[in-house]
Amino acid sequence: MMIDKVAKLTIDDKPSIDLPIHEATYGPELIDVAALGKHNFFTYDPGFISTASCKSAITYIDGDKGILLHRGYPIDQLAKKTDFLTTAYLLLKGELPNSTQQQDFKKTITSHVSPPAIIEQTLQGFAKGAHPMAMLISLLGALAGYYHPIKIRDAAERKQAIEQLIGYMPTLVAMTYQHYLGNKINTPREGLDYASQFMYLLFDDTRANNPTLNKAIDRILILHADHEQNASTSTVRLAGSTLANPYACIAAGTAALWGTAHGGANEAVIKMLTEIKDEKNIEEYIARAKDPNSNFRLMGFGHRVYKNYDPRATVMKQTCDEVLNELGTPDDPLFRIAMQLEKIALEDEYFIQRKLYPNVDFYSGIILRAIGIPTALFTSIFALARTVGWLAQWSEMLDDNDFKIGRPRQWYTGPTERDI
Ligand code: ACO
Repeated sequence: MMIDKVAKLTIDDKPSIDLPIHEATYGPELIDVAALGKHNFFTYDPGFISTASCKSAITYIDGDKGILLHRGYPIDQLAKKTDFLTTAYLLLKGELPNSTQQQDFKKTITSHVSPPAIIEQTLQGFAKGAHPMAMLISLLGALAGYYHPIKIRDAAERKQAIEQLIGYMPTLVAMTYQHYLGNKINTPREGLDYASQFMYLLFDDTRANNPTLNKAIDRILILHADHEQNASTSTVRLAGSTLANPYACIAAGTAALWGTAHGGANEAVIKMLTEIKDEKNIEEYIARAKDPNSNFRLMGFGHRVYKNYDPRATVMKQTCDEVLNELGTPDDPLFRIAMQLEKIALEDEYFIQRKLYPNVDFYSGIILRAIGIPTALFTSIFALARTVGWLAQWSEMLDDNDFKIGRPRQWYTGPTERDI
């Protein structure tokens, strides 16, 4: 790596420490602080506000401009011109597939639609009505037990684990859904594409044959496929850095995704919009969100990285329109409340000052709900999509020459040594 710039850190009257500066393709330059430990200093950055944990060539976000690129391609172009498995291929392999590669990849992934029998047995350990995310985490753990050990340094074994995980995910999520409702799952049907198979496993033929709804699901998957080093992806990388089984790493990512500050927001948005109930109550919720004495936040608003409109939210809003028109419910009351809430919030000084805009999940829940998917399943659908990004990032990490086990330092604030 060529280093032509150096930052000099001077502390008290000690000789200054040279810290190399790395240039990124896009985004800020990076001060390499790895050598600081040798000088008996650590850096402190709660929440990793200014710390890059890795190099990555997969996704780039410019949060101020509202730009999201996968391997250089803007997200709105990918959402409009590709399908989920084509975007998955791009994320995993770095380039869009030609038509033979695309067909082969789709054929391979969709051939892995039936997970081993251990999954059904694991599911039976859960009560009806258990949260689908809890079940999904366990099913992934069961697969880690079934497929163990995996030689992650062996290209063929790694590739197979990646393809199986992407192939199994729709079935796993559908199984948790049916178990949640107390139903039996359909047997997967031959010849369906990825999104249609998922819809078939959820709803039988009733909705699986509707191209608008299938396209909406496929688009939701594209828009959630990767988002660089967010909390769940960093969790997958951290778990993977110990050379853990990839199924276990994806289970770890799924757990990290569950919280309402991350993937759980789509579920929380619907709860909030349902609670608001009427446009006349919006002002009261905005006032609560602004009140410094209240913990309440507008769900689906704000983002650690985007300080502008989330480009995924724009595509999501259009898709929402399409789905509601297709279903003959363009006046869906939750959609009306959401649009009104967005309008009022975007004109409010509190939200303007803090650069709080709707994020991807402000509208995704309305689409999923209109399709007939219960809110408890929303975050699992996010996990299904993000599995692709997690695996692309995990595999990239394993191939990185700078790869090391993840092991952050701490600022110790406990007592000094004492006797009992
Ligand atoms: N509603 C009201 N105020 C908010 C919101 C919100 N949704 N989000 C942030 N703020 C305020 C904070 O209270 C804080 O105000 P202050 O400066 O007066 O104290 C300020 O904006 C900055 O907030 P932070 O918590 O420092 O921002 P951070 O970048 O750490 O948080 C997060 C980002 C977690 C996404 C936050 O905006 C949030 O909780 N949003 C709601 C949940 C949500 O939609 N999560 C989905 C994220 S996208 C995804 O995972 C797909």
